[in-house]
Amino acid sequence: MSRFTFIDLFCGIGGFHQAMSDLGGECVYASDIDEDCRKTYEANYGIRPDGDITQVNAADIPAHDVLCGGFPCQAFSKAGKRLGFADATKGTLFFDIMRIAGHHKPKYMLLENVRNLASHDHGNTWRVIHDSIVEAGYNVIDSPVIFSPHYIGIPQHRERVFIMCVRKDIGEIPPFYFNQERIPECSIDSILQEDSEIENLERYRLKPEMIEWIDNWNEFIRGIKCEKLPGFPVWADSLCALEDNHLISEWENLPKWMQNFIRKNSELWSQNKEFIETWLVKARKNPLFFGSKAKLEWQAGECDRPDIWEHIMQIRPSGLRVKPGTYFPAWSPLRRHR
Ligand SMILES: C[S@@+](CC[C@H](N)C(=O)[O-])C[C@H]1O[C@@H](n2cnc3c(N)ncnc32)[C@H](O)[C@@H]1O
Repeated sequence: MSRFTFIDLFCGIGGFHQAMSDLGGECVYASDIDEDCRKTYEANYGIRPDGDITQVNAADIPAHDVLCGGFPCQAFSKAGKRLGFADATKGTLFFDIMRIAGHHKPKYMLLENVRNLASHDHGNTWRVIHDSIVEAGYNVIDSPVIFSPHYIGIPQHRERVFIMCVRKDIGEIPPFYFNQERIPECSIDSILQEDSEIENLERYRLKPEMIEWIDNWNEFIRGIKCEKLPGFPVWADSLCALEDNHLISEWENLPKWMQNFIRKNSELWSQNKEFIETWLVKARKNPLFFGSKAKLEWQAGECDRPDIWEHIMQIRPSGLRVKPGTYFPAWSPLRRHR
């Protein structure tokens, strides 16, 4: 028998669902506007979420003990400062949470949002959220609690704020304290699956030219001689004498940060001229080596023998980013093994 019921608004692929059902909760309703999220949620939990919450009548949602919602963060109308909170929240998705809470009056609400919620729109967003929840008859924390899976040994950095609310007749918000000094060490190895556990493994393998492209950057990071591995982005196009850079004619108009990168790339080139020139000839033979793939962001710190394959990687507009294999960042990285 379930210990409590909950609803999952803005359910995504079901982060709240997983936690709540682990605690003995029964999901009686979910909603997400995104069809792919709905499909995944249904495959994960056997519940077909409703669509756009703004179109759902609160009376059509079953009664529940806990309302969960990881709502998208939108700015509130400044007019709300003068016209009252109902006006301030109208047109935002937070308003739909308040509309449903107003109808069902669940005992508890647990809301989640991006880390900078408290400072969003110069604090106006948090002020409106806080005061709307109080006005709806709930005790709520004074400022959102910041939490991340890596605080409890799960290898992902994903700092989010959590807003705990308890209906006033039920009680006070219990004190929440987390000792940041006791964050355990993590490694992504603790959750990576073995190849033998993966169905259709070939689908996830990197293509040969992709492996060659990463191997080329690996040769680069291993082959250059410098006091410290480059902490600045390496741009293959800027690995030449400063005066040979194709952007030099626009130098005065380039932002300071770009001038700085170009200068550092040129210094790296002059310290490793022979090696880099040979390396560039080979790297450029790979058809992938252009745009973001001709850039490297080494963010894995100092190593005696650097090896990209031992770290986690992401292809970003700013380049191939390489990070230590301790935590997953909030984004999805490339699988570490070939
Ligand atoms: C920050 S994500 C929530 C992630 C979720 N907690 C999870 O574990 O995956 C916000 C979600 O709100 C959904 N969303 C945005 N507008 C919506 C709307 N009008 N009605 C329902 N869902 C909406 C998005 O599709 C997105 O999945």
